[in-house]
Amino acid sequence: MGAEIPAGLVEAMRSADAVVVLTGAGVSAASGVPTFRGAGGLWAGRRVEEVASPLAFRNDPALVWSFYDWRRTELAKCTPNPAHHALARLEAILSEVTIITQNVDELHRAAGSRRVLEIHGSIWRLRCTGGCGEAEDRRAPLPPPLPPLCTCKSPLRPAVVWFGEALPRALFEEAQHAAGLADVCLVVGTSGAVEPAASLARIARANGAVLAEINPDGSLLSAMSRYVITDGAERALPRLVEAIEAAR
Ligand code: OAD
Repeated sequence: MGAEIPAGLVEAMRSADAVVVLTGAGVSAASGVPTFRGAGGLWAGRRVEEVASPLAFRNDPALVWSFYDWRRTELAKCTPNPAHHALARLEAILSEVTIITQNVDELHRAAGSRRVLEIHGSIWRLRCTGGCGEAEDRRAPLPPPLPPLCTCKSPLRPAVVWFGEALPRALFEEAQHAAGLADVCLVVGTSGAVEPAASLARIARANGAVLAEINPDGSLLSAMSRYVITDGAERALPRLVEAIEAAR
């Protein structure tokens, strides 16, 4: 069974010219990726600013890297789940679908989604702190010593957004633009606790989008959503996409 898929949402998505899907850690939960907040979350019992901030990296790059190297090693075992696959299918059946994800795991791309804005970066890319740019590196674990060094000898850092850092500007502007144009904004598996990511849902709604949420526990964005599907994304999204396909 599972939660009901609202007919109004199916119709809104079927007839939409543009759909934005804002995803968070919950979309990857069924792939075995831990979420951040709540019991068992990645941030539980950990001071985030000690492992995920520019200051932490300056003070102890090896400590920060041991956290990220561990995460990369765990993520290397994870594969897309039915929620990621359903969103890739959605892109194939609707005209304009943009996934804006806070996740750094690249699982949307692995499932075949093409228009994905990774506004918090990717854990599979490393950036030179000396300004040489960034490149993909999927080795997990990384060979010691940590931190890894660029050819210019500067430390490399994970190309993810840390606490206290701004989001990549052009990418975030693209996300804001997509949110502003959307007829439907589907919010999946995010607590809505982190800005400016959560503001994208408000931008969409303020510009007339139908806001809908998929989350087994609800979030800070539930109250402003027209539709709330209280279920796991790995169950609800395949059913939603099937219903859209059946209605076409
Ligand atoms: P959170 O851990 O804050 O929230 C995860 C959400 O997923 C919660 O609302 C859960 O109820 C929901 N959830 C759990 N299982 C689910 C499932 N099977 N299907 C659907 N939803 C499920 O994670 P985010 O909102 O992604 O930022 O966190 C936002 C940002 O905070 C992250 O990108 C990260 C973190 O600090 C940075 O690292 C910059």
